[in-house]
Amino acid sequence: MGSRIVATGRATPRTAVTNHDLTRLMATSDDWIRSRTGIGQRYVMRTGESLLDVAAEASRIALKRAGLSAGELDAIMVGTVSSEYGFPSFACLLQERLGADTIPAFDVAAACSGFIYALSVADFSMRAGEFRRVLVVGTDALSTMVDWNDRRTAVLFGDGAGAAVMVSEPGPRGVLSSLLRSSGRHWDLLSVRATGVRAPMDSEVRRSSDDAIKMKGPELFKIAVKSMEEVSREVAARAGVKLEEVHLIVPHQANLRIINAVAERLGLPPEKVFTNVDRYGNTSAASVPIALDEALETKRIRDNDLIMLNACGGGLTWGANILRW
Ligand SMILES: CC(C)(COP(=O)(O)OP(=O)(O)OC[C@H]1O[C@@H](n2cnc3c(N)ncnc32)[C@H](O)[C@@H]1OP(=O)(O)O)[C@@H](O)C(=O)NCCC(=O)NCCS
Repeated sequence: MGSRIVATGRATPRTAVTNHDLTRLMATSDDWIRSRTGIGQRYVMRTGESLLDVAAEASRIALKRAGLSAGELDAIMVGTVSSEYGFPSFACLLQERLGADTIPAFDVAAACSGFIYALSVADFSMRAGEFRRVLVVGTDALSTMVDWNDRRTAVLFGDGAGAAVMVSEPGPRGVLSSLLRSSGRHWDLLSVRATGVRAPMDSEVRRSSDDAIKMKGPELFKIAVKSMEEVSREVAARAGVKLEEVHLIVPHQANLRIINAVAERLGLPPEKVFTNVDRYGNTSAASVPIALDEALETKRIRDNDLIMLNACGGGLTWGANILRW
């Protein structure tokens, strides 16, 4: 028995902040941000908004498209590092919103790789016969964790949620292979000390630089490219798939230069690489499912296509999946 994504959904907070908007807050420019990252705008949470609402919206869309009610789910797995509570988990709060007592609901904390991790854990447990229908969500609000005076990090991140409904299914379609990697010795390349305190962009509360996201950008850039290349090759080999057979790669949308460098190393032409980082920025765990949902909506993915997902994030964590759509 394997697992297959039967429907997806996405949602963002309402406020889009352009690079031009940011020039009013810090010494930066649209040119700098676009040329170094490919980002043009990002959606950010405002005071009073809840990421839970955003994740619930994405989940309801996915469930509706799957033709399932929350009560028919067997588990909820959420890739996130943005729970408003130390505990309970984001997944338990989402479960309450959706009305899906008493199935297991839990978070998978793998920063930007959160969706790939949660999707893989869902696939592993469905292969083991434990669950038949799983809601997998990737959601984060890193814009509330940056130091808005730090132009090196504040321009990069956006907020949102993507959801996927997975069902267990025999046969050739679905997740063909998954591969997860971590390297705790690189933990200090990207980290944030305290996630509990929220400081949306428009709030008067500011995170102290000690409590904001810290990133060693240039070092992270190099490791991200290398690790995403390696894990993509390995996951393809594990699935018995040649890279040239992949129809579309839906990578973590951290930075256009990282995406292009990985694609080039893998020998994949631009038309086989989905990007939307220009409109969302880096939405951490939400980035792959948001991109996947847009790729489906714009018909970049068709039945039986071979799709690769990959990501790298704080931890460091990284991973990839190959799916036959
Ligand atoms: C963050 C990143 C875009 C920075 O690009 P870079 O070319 O490495 O830039 P550097 O950090 O070396 O900074 C170069 C200069 O630009 C400046 N700069 C940094 N951010 C800036 C901004 N938003 N606007 C204008 N100038 C900026 C720096 O202060 C520095 O100036 P200096 O030389 O006078 O000190 C790049 O390192 C990167 O993408 N890293 C990976 C980040 C990432 O994707 N993380 C998530 C992975 S999951």
